[in-house]
Amino acid sequence: MSDIDWAALRAAANEAKLKAYIPYSNFPVGAAALVDDGRIISGCNVENASYGVGLCAECALVSSLYMTGGGKLVAFTCVDGNGNVLMPCGRCRQLLFEHSAPGMILETVSGFKTIDEVLPDAFGPRTLEEYAS
Ligand code: THU
Repeated sequence: MSDIDWAALRAAANEAKLKAYIPYSNFPVGAAALVDDGRIISGCNVENASYGVGLCAECALVSSLYMTGGGKLVAFTCVDGNGNVLMPCGRCRQLLFEHSAPGMILETVSGFKTIDEVLPDAFGPRTLEEYAS
């Protein structure tokens, strides 16, 4: 936690938000995360004329995770157009949970929290493993 460079993560998120494709909402979002091998990855939201299929910034971030070598997310932050911290939507908490390292930390509107705190009792890969065994 203390060894995480949150300023660098926020800078990456703020840079990412500048790339957002947001003709419909005009609400840019930038997300950035630290991967367990030290990489910093990021993503922006990409909207669509068919509004419901627009992609949140977290979707781009997870795609970038795999495009740049995979791994698990250790720390995450997300910002709006003003650079203020933004909570990931419910769907994106689920997205992040799937790829989280144990104890992953998120910068939230109410301080630093673990992934388990922002998505308690999550449904995830382990649920399916337990069911199958
Ligand atoms: N958005 C994100 O990119 N991530 C979130 O976690 C919340 C919402 C985007 C989706 C849409 O392009 C815009 O914010 C307004 O909802």
